[in-house]
Amino acid sequence: MITLISGTNREGSNTLKLTKYYHRQLLEKGFESEIISLCDLPNDLISTDLYGKRSKAFQSIQDKITVSSKFIFLIPEYNGSFPGILKTFIDACAFPDSFYGKKVALVGLSSGKYGNVRGIEHFTGICHYINMHVLPLRIHIPNIGKEFDENGNLCMEDTLKFTAQQIDRFIEF
Ligand SMILES: Cc1cc2nc3c(=O)[nH]c(=O)nc-3n(C[C@H](O)[C@H](O)[C@H](O)COP(=O)(O)O)c2cc1C
Repeated sequence: MITLISGTNREGSNTLKLTKYYHRQLLEKGFESEIISLCDLPNDLISTDLYGKRSKAFQSIQDKITVSSKFIFLIPEYNGSFPGILKTFIDACAFPDSFYGKKVALVGLSSGKYGNVRGIEHFTGICHYINMHVLPLRIHIPNIGKEFDENGNLCMEDTLKFTAQQIDRFIEF
């Protein structure tokens, strides 16, 4: 199973929009996937799941992670890196079984002009620590506010080309 992680809990985020786009593209290529949005994390995560007191609300998320063998993390740039909630989520997941030996593709986005290059680099380090295999083709999408059409689809030629290439390589990976 492929799981797409929308890497922020900000309501109305561009990250979730992009995650849904990836979901639709995978489906068009014949692959089912599941979306986990960090908006769905339980509010008491930091006093329960973060240090091992597993909550019912998180258990259903953990179950999806456990059965998944491939992940795409879509990660916005917050203060020059990935969002703190994403690291909190990783820390709350069962270690090491959640991600050990599994495959991952990374997509960075930002409203500024760097497309979260640094945050994706930081997160790649974490992926290696938790023993994930990272798809070498990592995508960075700057100026995200200008990327979507009215249906929430990407519409810029280069971005369409590179995201399609990443999805194809991820399917083969
Ligand atoms: C807390 C916070 C910090 C941010 N820091 C940056 C930043 O360092 N560089 C940048 O280009 N955009 C930054 N942004 C803007 C995001 O890149 C922008 O909101 C974009 O749409 C992707 O995030 P989203 O999924 O929350 O929409 C920041 C946004 C938030 C909420």
